[in-house]
Amino acid sequence: MSASKSVNSKDRVVIFDTTLRDGEQCPGATMTLEEKLQVADLLDEMGVDIIEAGFPIASNGDFEAVSMIASRVKNAVVAGLARAGVKDIERAGEAVRKARRPRIHTFLSTSPVHMKYKLQKEPDEVLEMVIASVTRARNLVADVEWSAEDGTRTEHDFLCRCVEAAIKAGATTINIPDTVGYTAPDEYRALFRMVRERVPNADKAVFSVHCHNDLGMAVANSVAGLEGGARQIECTINGIGERAGNAALEEVVMALKVRGDIFPFETGIRSEMLTRASKLVSAVTSFPVQYNKAIVGRNAFAHESGIHQDGMLKHTQTYEIMTPETVGVAKTSLVMGKHSGRNAFRDKLKGLGYELSDNEFEDAFNRFKALADQKKHVYDEDIEALVDEKIATATDRMKVLSLLVVAGTLGPQVATLTLEIDGVHKTVQSQGNGPVDACFNAIKAIVPHEAMLELYQVHAVTEGTDAQAEVSVRLAEAGKAVTAKAAHPDTLVASAKAYLGALNKLMQKRDRLHATAAE
Ligand code: KIV
Ligand code: ZN
Repeated sequence: MSASKSVNSKDRVVIFDTTLRDGEQCPGATMTLEEKLQVADLLDEMGVDIIEAGFPIASNGDFEAVSMIASRVKNAVVAGLARAGVKDIERAGEAVRKARRPRIHTFLSTSPVHMKYKLQKEPDEVLEMVIASVTRARNLVADVEWSAEDGTRTEHDFLCRCVEAAIKAGATTINIPDTVGYTAPDEYRALFRMVRERVPNADKAVFSVHCHNDLGMAVANSVAGLEGGARQIECTINGIGERAGNAALEEVVMALKVRGDIFPFETGIRSEMLTRASKLVSAVTSFPVQYNKAIVGRNAFAHESGIHQDGMLKHTQTYEIMTPETVGVAKTSLVMGKHSGRNAFRDKLKGLGYELSDNEFEDAFNRFKALADQKKHVYDEDIEALVDEKIATATDRMKVLSLLVVAGTLGPQVATLTLEIDGVHKTVQSQGNGPVDACFNAIKAIVPHEAMLELYQVHAVTEGTDAQAEVSVRLAEAGKAVTAKAAHPDTLVASAKAYLGALNKLMQKRDRLHATAAE
């Protein structure tokens, strides 16, 4: 993957998305195989140049996800991450083998603190490992990326020696990550300039930025790295990733687009798909998007104060530096209700960026009608919640069939719940310390389990007392955490569905582990 100049003389920047690797690595963001495939398909369609699909040696599940993504992605390069060891690199090579354009991304720490305490190796040993690992990867694929982990805290002379050796051994991309989110824009820009000036074979590789957001500077640092000569940005949707996350793809892309006057770079991203990508990643990870998050937060294009509204009515450029349509937010919010027909619903889905098959459409339409019977207005967010919830539950074995809860001051609160499990109906009645507790106890009575409830969060999808409640639940079992979300006008039904959704995910995880153990 090379970075070249376009006809309008802007430099083409390669977008390397690591939502499925660095993003998935952060606590609680685990995705099922099905969810990873959906995210990969969307990234490919959106114009991402490189999809880092996972860390194949980490687990059989990761390996399977990387190889399935490799077989189905149509345009993007598919990368698998590997440490410097032989097994890591061979596993990564095997996982990306079926990709039209495979890449192995191998990394090794180069900073004094990492070499001394983490690797317990001398710099010369590390240098030998860089050469051996890149050479091994190059024997498997033609496209090899090498990363100097903790690059921004690495001594300059040693960094230059490693980069030169990696390029000589065949690395085609050199990534200098700000692994701990420590650098600042001027420093990072200067680092790339220094390396590109001092390393004699620097012109044989594309340089890459990879910034973590511990000090809130990941996007600013990434753009500064481009000014220093990098032409690849590693980033994630919604900025998810280790600790405070990675540079957010949507922010980087829009910064380059909106401020093209000062940043002479362009990407191949279809920015109208950014909101859809954000919503999908939020739905499958159950990580809510901060309301005031740049580009994709629900308030990013909302104007409430009188002065701002007045300005907006006179001219939208008074308070908007980009149009909502550029990032896929529909300008007008057409209110849908129970009188809306199939055509209007289809049109609405299209406007929101969904393309459903005929069966999926019929299913979504029936559920929309059922919702419209319960709610006066069905807003865009309600429809998105309804479609996203289905995406997340397509492979579930257990479903909530009915729920009746008796609540109020007199107590005890009682839930009567019927679940369908693999086609069989089971009903119980349970008490609890409050209605939510009663619902969860009823689920536990039907599906005994040891999982601990780590998070229970409710928010209203839209405004008003008939708003849909969106509930997120995180369950942890044997060191593994899964999260699920569900939306419904009845908070208790949403709670039961979210809890069961998380249990479904745990069950899928267990089934996968059993299947791989039996192989
Ligand atoms: O942050 C980091 O250093 C990484 C590397 C594996 C590239 O994620
Ligand atoms: Zn990282």
